[in-house]
Amino acid sequence: MAFFFFFFFFFFLLFSSLFVSSLFLFFRSVTFRRVRLPPGTLGLPLIGETLQLISAYKTENPEPFIDERVRRFGPVFTTHLFGEPTIFSADLETNRFILQNEEKLFECSYPGSISNLLGNHSLLLMKGSLHKRMHSLTMSFANSSIIRDRLLVDVDRLIRLNLQSWTGRIFLLEEAKKITFELAVKQLMSFDRCEWTQNLMKEYLLVIEGFFTVPLPLFSTTYRGAIQARRKVAEQLGLGTVVRQRRKEREGGVKKKDMLGALLAGENSLSDEQIVDFLLALLVAGYETTSTTMTLAVKFLTETPLALAQLQEEQEKIKGRKKESEQHLLQWNDYKSMPFTQCVVNETLRVGNIISGVFRRAVTDVNIKGGYTIPKGCRVFASFRAVHMNHHHFDDARSFNPWRWQQQNSLGSTTNAFTPFGGGPRLCPGYELARVELSVFLHHLVTQFRWVPAEDDKLVFFPTTRTQKRYPIYVTRKDETTQCKDTQTVQPANESLLSAATSQEHQFSSQSKSNTAFYPHIFWSDDLLASKFRGFELNMCSMWG
Ligand SMILES: *[C@@H]1O[C@H](CO)[C@@H](O)[C@H](O)[C@H]1NC(C)=O
Ligand SMILES: *[C@@H]1O[C@H](CO)[C@@H](O)[C@H](O)[C@H]1NC(C)=O
Ligand SMILES: *[C@@H]1O[C@H](CO)[C@@H](O)[C@H](O)[C@H]1NC(C)=O
Ligand SMILES: *[C@@H]1O[C@H](CO)[C@@H](O)[C@H](O)[C@H]1NC(C)=O
Repeated sequence: MAFFFFFFFFFFLLFSSLFVSSLFLFFRSVTFRRVRLPPGTLGLPLIGETLQLISAYKTENPEPFIDERVRRFGPVFTTHLFGEPTIFSADLETNRFILQNEEKLFECSYPGSISNLLGNHSLLLMKGSLHKRMHSLTMSFANSSIIRDRLLVDVDRLIRLNLQSWTGRIFLLEEAKKITFELAVKQLMSFDRCEWTQNLMKEYLLVIEGFFTVPLPLFSTTYRGAIQARRKVAEQLGLGTVVRQRRKEREGGVKKKDMLGALLAGENSLSDEQIVDFLLALLVAGYETTSTTMTLAVKFLTETPLALAQLQEEQEKIKGRKKESEQHLLQWNDYKSMPFTQCVVNETLRVGNIISGVFRRAVTDVNIKGGYTIPKGCRVFASFRAVHMNHHHFDDARSFNPWRWQQQNSLGSTTNAFTPFGGGPRLCPGYELARVELSVFLHHLVTQFRWVPAEDDKLVFFPTTRTQKRYPIYVTRKDETTQCKDTQTVQPANESLLSAATSQEHQFSSQSKSNTAFYPHIFWSDDLLASKFRGFELNMCSMWG
């Protein structure tokens, strides 16, 4: 107990001094230079309007936080979040302006603890010409012709393979994470599932937890664990060894066409350490966001039976065509003939807002729309969510309506306002790959399974976008229900379903305590606001670009 108070007091002091000094600097710079800030309030001392934001984002409907302020102050307003005054933009033009002026007027800035976990050479932390080169390298690795010719085969195969083991009650989010992790490892380093990749994933989860805890080794075992796990992933488990070995193979003339191959081949001549950092960060990027999007798509479809029926019809048609031609593997032209599925994908991205916006810092005084100025050094937040949820840009913006994407005439302005992957120089390089993975996943899911939600589950948006209970569902195989009605596996009695479910759950909780730490329900209990925020910010900026 005493420890806890000490802990709390320590942070209180830390924060208040930080706050006072930042506020002082902020106002001094603002008043002395007489800049015209966007209107708004800074809220309470110390915490500003952080608690309002968090309590809004912890519900299914975070919109009121933005709506209220937009009504009072307009689409660009000043607030105070996570220990710092912040200019919040809910405005399409301003957002685009911020994205397009990356590195000229605005730049990313991250706390040091992030580089401790991610490594110094991830795309997220790169700047300038190095970032440009590496970004375009990553882009060209995942462009549509590469996906068509190389990646799609594995996406199709690995998703099939994973779905084979599904039975009874599953946590969709966990299953989706297994899929996206395997896909990422395959695409980056050509490894299939094996003991090594399973171990890698275990350590990986520990690293990710580190983003959500107090970054002080003295106080947080989770953080210490995360740093250790990172070292393990990089060295003991042998990402470094993999890189060295591949370099040797390459010198011997063996060339693999994966991301690692592209990194080794690049004329940038990166060191092993740089390559490891780079791969590590991409692994997070490919894994977190795509699996959440998969889960949300299924949730939205389940809640919109008409859309599910239409998507199912489209996918069954493709499956039927495959049977006739004896060409079972999903091909690029199959992917290209899923028009309604693409509408569902877009609508899921629009409503889900996995990356709800990006934080940037003004490099100099920046004049924006309305005669306002963002002072040098000030943090800005470009909210994509606010634009996606705005009735001016999307009719009835707050409901899930995939059919809106079919109305081609209205799409002109719509696609403009639609930035689920960010934009500008830091556009997510994996945007096409994510869409393909989601589409293939939906294809196999709806053609092989029926499902019902096992419990009510809710979307929340803080510290990361996810469903609260990892979206538990009961799945039954379609061919089983039609062909072998007499076998027991078809419709197990409720008791057996339940016992299967509980044993699974049990397994889960003994396997990793991670989930309580990763998905905390009470923010003040074991951690402090600011540390949660780090995960929030990271997720928003995402490790993509
Ligand atoms: C990143 O660089 C800083 C100094 O530039 C160094 O102190 C830190 O250990 C580095 N982190 C990693 C993970 O290499
Ligand atoms: C994709 O990238 C490859 C190089 O990795 C390049 O040769 C090809 O032209 C690119 N395709 C498109 C459609 O940009
Ligand atoms: C989905 O959004 C993208 C923009 O990210 C757009 O190019 C595409 O046409 C949209 N798809 C459909 C079916 O409207
Ligand atoms: C079994 O579950 C179904 C729905 O999942 C429910 O309608 C039914 O009442 C349950 N039966 C028993 C015996 O609990």
